[in-house]
Amino acid sequence: MRVLVTGAAGFIGSGVVRELRDRGHDVIAADLMLPQAHGQGAPPLDVRVADVRDKPAVLALLEGVDVVSHQAAMVGAGVDSSDMPLYASHNDVGTAVLLAAMAERAVSRIVLASSVVVYGEGRYACPEHGPQPAPPRRLDDLQRGLFDVRCHRCGEPLGWRRVEEDTALDPRSSYAASKVAQEHYVAAWCRQAPGAAVALRYHNVYGEGMPKDSPYSGVAAIFRSALERGEPPEVFEDGRQMRDFVHVDDVAAVNAMAVEAVLAMSPETFDAFNVCSGSPISIHDVAERLCQAVRADLSPRVSGRFRPGDVRHVVASPDKAKRLLGFTATTGPDVGLRRFAHEPLRD
Ligand code: UD1
Repeated sequence: MRVLVTGAAGFIGSGVVRELRDRGHDVIAADLMLPQAHGQGAPPLDVRVADVRDKPAVLALLEGVDVVSHQAAMVGAGVDSSDMPLYASHNDVGTAVLLAAMAERAVSRIVLASSVVVYGEGRYACPEHGPQPAPPRRLDDLQRGLFDVRCHRCGEPLGWRRVEEDTALDPRSSYAASKVAQEHYVAAWCRQAPGAAVALRYHNVYGEGMPKDSPYSGVAAIFRSALERGEPPEVFEDGRQMRDFVHVDDVAAVNAMAVEAVLAMSPETFDAFNVCSGSPISIHDVAERLCQAVRADLSPRVSGRFRPGDVRHVVASPDKAKRLLGFTATTGPDVGLRRFAHEPLRD
């Protein structure tokens, strides 16, 4: 089938293109080559430079396309509220324009790159008082080094639980707000067009070609960049915050599976899936493993600093993607981080 991949020159998008081509699909690769992601780098030869906010350009790309794999987005935690318009423009408006163009061209299937950030904090429970919601952490608590989310009855730290896809959405950053908006536009389009869509909620993606140290980079690349400078990685908070690190090759694989699955789905269907390894790991352990693999003489530096918008723990269940898409990650963090320690990053 013919698949348009947006964000095709990116860290994840380029893996999706490779995987789809390996499976015999005809891929149209498009990317805006945003400087935040690509610096001044030239586009790869097979990538057409196009902006998803430019409807005539998108209409031209959609010729003969069966499915769109929408990976193009402003990513990361960002700097501060000054970059809000960038998230709203590239992610919210970009998706809306793409969907309108798809409806005009009668392209009725899309796979959307979403994110675990749509959940905000993960799920929590007190050993004594049971499950409870986690409001945003208070700045004065963070300043006093109180990083855990606490039970509203006894004040003890709450333990984390795995998040299922039907958990209420609770975005806590501009990026998260734009990912929720993308999902909502896509769900509305499914009813209006009508069309079918799969949203893939990526956890912390890492692997070869990850962008180097920047405000928009994930922590694994930031730790790697520190080690390359001969510095110990700086671990924020107390390092006990939990995440799920999923390898980019697994993310590419599940995208190809979703592209194939969405074609068989009936119109007016929208479904979302966690994309994770299923093997949660603390941020301190990520830093520790990278130190061991790159510079065994260095140890992570737990600084107690924090980013106000960060969530404490977010760990999701891989069960639904396994059940309905047949996806299980093949690379766990033990093997994956050891490999990643020596894989090239992109500037
Ligand atoms: C990350 C992504 C987000 C993506 C989500 C799910 C970034 C910037 N964030 O969010 O876009 O949607 O995963 O895939 O790409 N930390 C340190 N030291 C540092 C930097 C960060 O200890 O130098 C800590 C943070 O405080 C946080 C953890 O590492 O607790 C993870 O940070 P980050 O890589 O930004 O990931 P998420 O916030 O989980």
